[in-house]
Amino acid sequence: MLATLWLASLSLPLLWAQKLINCPYKNLCRYALLSGNDVILQCNYPKALWYFSSTLEDTLSLLNSMPNVKILPGSNLQLPNPQPSQTGLYRCLDGHKTRVVEYEIDFQDIALLHVTHKDLGQTPMGNETMNLGGEVIVFTRWDPWQDCNRCEKPGERKRLGYCYVEEPLGKPTPCWLYMREKVTHKRLRPELQLQACRVPCDTVIETNQPFFVFDTRQLDKATDHVWLSCPLASIYRPVHWEVNDTAITWQNQLSGEYVSSFMDPLSGGQQLKVFQPAIYRCFVEQELIAQFNPTDPEDELRESERQSKGQGWFRTQPGKADSVLRGLKLMLLTLSLLVVGGLLCKVVFRPVRGKKRNQVLLVK
Ligand SMILES: *[C@@H]1O[C@H](CO)[C@@H](O)[C@H](O)[C@H]1NC(C)=O
Ligand SMILES: *[C@@H]1O[C@H](CO)[C@@H](O)[C@H](O)[C@H]1NC(C)=O
Repeated sequence: MLATLWLASLSLPLLWAQKLINCPYKNLCRYALLSGNDVILQCNYPKALWYFSSTLEDTLSLLNSMPNVKILPGSNLQLPNPQPSQTGLYRCLDGHKTRVVEYEIDFQDIALLHVTHKDLGQTPMGNETMNLGGEVIVFTRWDPWQDCNRCEKPGERKRLGYCYVEEPLGKPTPCWLYMREKVTHKRLRPELQLQACRVPCDTVIETNQPFFVFDTRQLDKATDHVWLSCPLASIYRPVHWEVNDTAITWQNQLSGEYVSSFMDPLSGGQQLKVFQPAIYRCFVEQELIAQFNPTDPEDELRESERQSKGQGWFRTQPGKADSVLRGLKLMLLTLSLLVVGGLLCKVVFRPVRGKKRNQVLLVK
């Protein structure tokens, strides 16, 4: 809990949008993921060292001092905006240079993402036999479908598919961990598949749930658009947007109909490009998370009067707290903790002494 709080304070909303990757103690785990989308590799060992060796170049580097990564408490490794070139072996070693955990990660190039929508009759890529120094099958291995991005009302769900290679009688391997050299081929791509859905809400609808309100984003005068970024959302999580209470759907966007906004497939819809002033809302895991009211540059005067005013920071009823809301609450708690300033460090670094104090802060 303490570590989590501290964690939350370091890189506020972003952290909760990140996918946590784990592996049992002393084991080696292999994952295919997508480039451009933040992840955290867990080590959960104090003062461990992280080493990386790339699949393409045979170099071993110590990551602890690298600028493009961040070591979090518990020696968890944060990889912001990972690139395909960061595909390779990640080792978390203890003080005796023995393995705590090891990951083989394939960051598949998000720029190659193959997007299809079931309800538009679009089909994912089929299996293909290829010659990669021997005959192999290239196929897509799918994550489970994510939850419907909305409940009660019509929504959409997505699933991610990763490129895998299988040798005859061999074990499937993520494509770019299999290939030791650069190969480009139109079948070697990750996938995103979408589908319409409609599910009931499994908790009582909360009318007073907490969400962020952003009033300050202006449409850019020169380009006439602005990118809205849904906090806590991620390509690995269900996200849903509404404009003036009307759903923004992948189905409309992908069918080429005129739409007044654009969901970025490369972020799984976490980013929305908008061209008109309106009220935009985003939902993560079916819960309202944020509201944006981008304005015309001309309306600057009115804007300054409407600085962010969040509504009811906490639920009035103790509903089933899901991870998103827990994250949100933690952030808010942390914000209030940060106000208390240096006290936070004392609380974190001296848990025994700080425990009582921490409880007091939590109640606040
Ligand atoms: C594609 O190949 C994979 C791996 O060999 C296999 O599990 C899957 O059933 C194949 N799918 C089809 C439609 O042939
Ligand atoms: C949203 O509603 C506002 C105010 O009614 C209107 O001016 C605007 O054009 C609407 N925008 C969209 C994209 O529907």
